[in-house]
Amino acid sequence: MITRLTLIGIAAILILSLSNCNKSDNEYQNGGEGTINLPPLDPTLVNKGKDIFRYETFGDETTWTDLLKMNQVIEATVDPVTALSVGLKVDASALPPAVVTGITDGSINLNDPQTTLALLQLNAVVGLQGKVSSTPEGALKLDKIGITCALCHSTVDDSFAPGIGNRLDGYPNRDLDPGLIISLSPALTAAQKNIYASWGKGKFDPRFNHDGLNNPVVIPPAYGLYGLPKSTFTGDGDIQHEPVGPVAYWNRYVAVAEMGGHGKFSDARIGMTIDNTGGGADLVTDKLPALQAYQFSLAAPLPKSGSFDVAAAKAGKILFNSKAQCVSCHSGPKFTDVIQGGKLHSIEETVATDKMYASRSATKKWRTSPLKGIWQHAPYFHDGSAETLSAVVEKYNNSRKLGLSNQEKQNLTEYLKSL
Ligand code: HEC
Ligand code: HEC
Repeated sequence: MITRLTLIGIAAILILSLSNCNKSDNEYQNGGEGTINLPPLDPTLVNKGKDIFRYETFGDETTWTDLLKMNQVIEATVDPVTALSVGLKVDASALPPAVVTGITDGSINLNDPQTTLALLQLNAVVGLQGKVSSTPEGALKLDKIGITCALCHSTVDDSFAPGIGNRLDGYPNRDLDPGLIISLSPALTAAQKNIYASWGKGKFDPRFNHDGLNNPVVIPPAYGLYGLPKSTFTGDGDIQHEPVGPVAYWNRYVAVAEMGGHGKFSDARIGMTIDNTGGGADLVTDKLPALQAYQFSLAAPLPKSGSFDVAAAKAGKILFNSKAQCVSCHSGPKFTDVIQGGKLHSIEETVATDKMYASRSATKKWRTSPLKGIWQHAPYFHDGSAETLSAVVEKYNNSRKLGLSNQEKQNLTEYLKSL
């Protein structure tokens, strides 16, 4: 009797698990639906991570000051107007009332690099950390400059003036022209300068200084990532290659290999081993858990009310989950199938113009991009090859021969704006 019951029990479990298998293989959860059980984040760690994200250079002054001499460039030529024009942002909350008044009434000269140094001294330039001193004559001198994660992955809400406002951490700075800024370094050859200057606003090539290939990608958001088992456009980061977690994998890469921070990075898949500690302290590793927790705490921003047509978006949602086939990859609570066991897609499967970038990565594949907050960060795809969400829909309609009518394309676009 007992044996028979046990057998029935085992059979039931088998049938249940088999049908579960079939379900996850054949039936997608609709985009945006379902939940992932994620442990709560430790608020103390998150707060620590916020300071690291905004202000930590990991000792990268060695690169930006000693090697690239960017302190000299800024001191000699970068007045605030120039700084804002290359996409640097000013944190209004760091400005004392007298400076706010001075900017408003024009008594502070925004065409003088000395003003930039004064802003650095106030720790008001997002993503830059400067050490400023005074000459005997009373002029300001920039002794050291370093960069932080916020340079590329924060912007401001323009509440005071264009480029000056409250910080929006995790928002990609698509106004920033990091290549143009680097190209000003006197330490580069003319050929290097030309390449850096060619990248354009909102783009950066985080592999160029290692593989020599020139193929920049857009700066992505650092929000909405909690729950994804892989990071980057190509899913390079995962727990197998960085025990702290998927985002920490890439944070270590960038801190060491791009910012020039004092730390170590190694990944046999891309044949890279870097030790930037110079035999001294590792300033990166112990900061990774807090840095990752802060990024995980950043939710994708909600669309502003009135920014899309509600009825059209409703119709678009049905298309997303049926005729337009978007849900076959953008499935589940995060709009990405990477949460299904870390699934990635082959190199031809992107509809972006460039396919080559993935071949430079560790996985040689693409991760389906999460779509929450997508309204916020045009242009789209890793290469920015779709200027708008309606251009995204157009690309999919053509490449995947979806046969959407103009009305259907419009509805699908409105739905994307609503995510
Ligand atoms: C010079 C600009 C720049 C700086 C500085 C920078 N990043 Fe990035 N970041 C990028 C670019 C470009 C990518 C896209 C690379 C890719 O996916 O292949 C990226 C990718 C990422 C991703 C992956 C997002 C995703 O969708 O999985 C995260 C997370 C991230 N960066 C966080 C950081 C942190 C934390 C720092 C500081 C340690 C940092 N970045 C510094 C430009 C920058
Ligand atoms: C075969 C899998 C697949 C299908 C089907 C698919 N996508 Fe994607 N989607 C991806 C991948 C992979 C990326 C990242 C590609 C890249 O950046 O080159 C992406 C990127 C995007 C992006 C850009 C995200 C960003 O941050 O820039 C949007 C928007 C998007 N998809 C919307 C859609 C819509 C709408 C549909 C249906 C018409 C759709 N996708 C169908 C796999 C897919």
